[in-house]
Amino acid sequence: MDKIKIRGGKKLEGKIYISGAKNAALPLICASLLTDETVTLTNMPMLSDITAMNALLKELGTDIDEFDDFVDGHNTKTYSYRTKEFKSLIAPYDFVRKMRASYYVLGPLLAREGHIELSLPGGCAIGARPMDIHLSALEQMGVKIEIKQGYVYGDVQGKLKGAHIILRIASVGATCNILMAAVLAEGKTIIENAAKEPEIGDLIDLLNAMGAKIEGKDSSVLTIYGVEKLHGAQHKVIPDRIEAGSYAVAAAITRGRIELLNAQAETLQSPIKVLRDMGVTVEEKEHSLIVDAQEATLWGQDIMTDYYPGFPTDLQAQFMALMLTAKGASMITENIWENRFMHVPELMRMGANINVHGHASAIVRGVKQLSGAPVMATDLRASFALILAGLVAEGETIVNRVYHLDRGYEHLEEKLKGVGADIERIKEPD
Ligand code: UD1
Repeated sequence: MDKIKIRGGKKLEGKIYISGAKNAALPLICASLLTDETVTLTNMPMLSDITAMNALLKELGTDIDEFDDFVDGHNTKTYSYRTKEFKSLIAPYDFVRKMRASYYVLGPLLAREGHIELSLPGGCAIGARPMDIHLSALEQMGVKIEIKQGYVYGDVQGKLKGAHIILRIASVGATCNILMAAVLAEGKTIIENAAKEPEIGDLIDLLNAMGAKIEGKDSSVLTIYGVEKLHGAQHKVIPDRIEAGSYAVAAAITRGRIELLNAQAETLQSPIKVLRDMGVTVEEKEHSLIVDAQEATLWGQDIMTDYYPGFPTDLQAQFMALMLTAKGASMITENIWENRFMHVPELMRMGANINVHGHASAIVRGVKQLSGAPVMATDLRASFALILAGLVAEGETIVNRVYHLDRGYEHLEEKLKGVGADIERIKEPD
């Protein structure tokens, strides 16, 4: 398994292109299953999660064409998806085990074919991650759900029926699945307490471009008027706000200055506020963000993760690494996932001063200097937090289990090298 070696101490300066958003791209790919015409997605990131989702769609019968492209100043991929007819309605264990987001095929398959067999994803490192909200909403829309031998069997007699659904939690995944089911349902569906993440807005834009009728984008009440049929469309994936936030921290933690090209400031208001309160200068431009900490003295700040537009849980680990280099104490509270401090023991091995209280809160105290060490993390964002710590640590840090990073950070080493980091990938046979 590959490793990443970093020698800390370089101030990062320059420009980084922000890629298309992984968490937008995954449901968009699945939305293509709702039509027998071609759906083309541009500004797609080159990530192992995208490859994994493409493999699942091929298994279901989708023809996929891949093109190299150049969008908004950087090299990207364009994919065209066409599912003329389904070869299988089964999302098998081997696919879902590798990537939980495979559950995004649930809504489209039930809407178009009235049947699905989906391996239940189970928990993962950051939490139990049940699917009860997805399933109970689909039941309200007329799906008969049965769970046996680790699979969800879903069946619809006739067509899905519009329903008034009130979500117990503003779940991103459930909101996407219900949207994709409701667009082809009979009648009107209302989703109350819907998630408002920008990735959902992106899905709504694609579905409407395919002929769906969805109202209420960016609000917590979505109204969907079911239509007979959807058609093909072309759509550009939004920039990845979590990747942008991660590199904003890379600028701040190294006391450098990075311009994040294509970053959308409006989707990053909570993390930008924390950076400014800490003492970092953040300039919002129309198509970029400039993060400058060159002359800054940083002060600790408290953070509580929350649903959008609150502080994103997917940036919690990265900001914890940053707080280690600030003066004073910071309290970090994780409100979304029940087990999302696995980076703490690894950061402690690098000299961090962190006290975890219960499952949800941690006090982080600034330290004089972190020191390099061999470390590893059990999830994507925690792995990036270790990279960040490595960028300022004294000596060498080796981050193991790089496959987590490859799931969500396109061209990671190239991007960091381009702004002056001393970083390399050590290839090792699996
Ligand atoms: C998505 C993101 C993930 C991010 C999370 C929260 C993708 C591919 N992943 O995950 O990176 O951390 O949003 O912003 O976009 N829950 C239930 N029952 C359900 C569904 C969810 O109890 O049926 C709970 C979860 O356990 C969690 C909370 O609701 O505690 C939020 O989960 P959800 O918004 O669904 O996250 P995901 O869509 O899985």
